[in-house]
Amino acid sequence: MIISTGERPKPEVAERARALAGRLGVSYAPRGNASVAKLLAEYRDDDLLIVLHQGVRLLRSGAAPLQFHPSMGFVRAKRVLKGETDPLAAAAGMVPGDSVLDCTAGLGADSLVLAVSGGEETSVTALESSLPLYALLSEGMASYDSGLPEVDSALRRIEVVNSGHLDYLHSLPDRSVDIVYFDPMFREPLHDSAAISPLRSFADSSALSEGSVAEALRVARKSVVLKEKRGSGEFSRLGFQEQLRQGNKTSYGVIAIDNRS
Ligand SMILES: C[S@@+](CC[C@H](N)C(=O)[O-])C[C@H]1O[C@@H](n2cnc3c(N)ncnc32)[C@H](O)[C@@H]1O
Repeated sequence: MIISTGERPKPEVAERARALAGRLGVSYAPRGNASVAKLLAEYRDDDLLIVLHQGVRLLRSGAAPLQFHPSMGFVRAKRVLKGETDPLAAAAGMVPGDSVLDCTAGLGADSLVLAVSGGEETSVTALESSLPLYALLSEGMASYDSGLPEVDSALRRIEVVNSGHLDYLHSLPDRSVDIVYFDPMFREPLHDSAAISPLRSFADSSALSEGSVAEALRVARKSVVLKEKRGSGEFSRLGFQEQLRQGNKTSYGVIAIDNRS
């Protein structure tokens, strides 16, 4: 992956792009008048992250461009701000101030909803193992302007980390996070998912392992939650109790942690 800007960027946008490239240890490609195809050919790469004055965009030859946007996460966050409880927060048994480890960040919609649901005292760490998606998400979360201060401040509170979740879970002490959440790429994709289809070509599509769930159970104080397609065999394979939601094509599976011992 290389990082560049739109044509004729403002100096501060070029600086953001250069700083992001430095943090990620990838090349910064000054845009000049070059086309995307020319930049990719010059740097012999397939992926280009473009930092814009407002927004950030990921391009790969042969794939549809992917723009950072909280999409349904924004709609759900607005409902939470109006006083509704989001179904994910309800499934997790979340209360204000709970800490969350989102093991599969994607475009961060669920992280955003959990950060808004938990309020300012809540910490959300979002793990993403795909470098291009991590770059899109971390730059997007840092700079996106939704027009709603509560949503923007929740986006800025989320710590985005480029890591596979098994390694990251291994590094955490026992019972150190309230809620651990997994939303892996579904074993059988929902092809009509407008939120997930665009990120498919960049995403890590490996199945959730029993080892990661065991680590999550060691690390969680309150609950471990899995999102999957309604009726998926993954719930029983991994020991989750599926909670069916009427009229919904996806379910949350929950393992509540027994805190009596
Ligand atoms: C279905 S998407 C998650 C969507 C996300 N919940 C949202 O609201 O936007 C799954 C994401 O998890 C990432 N992923 C898959 N396996 C992972 C792993 N072992 N560690 C970290 N991230 C992983 C994929 O690259 C993908 O971006």
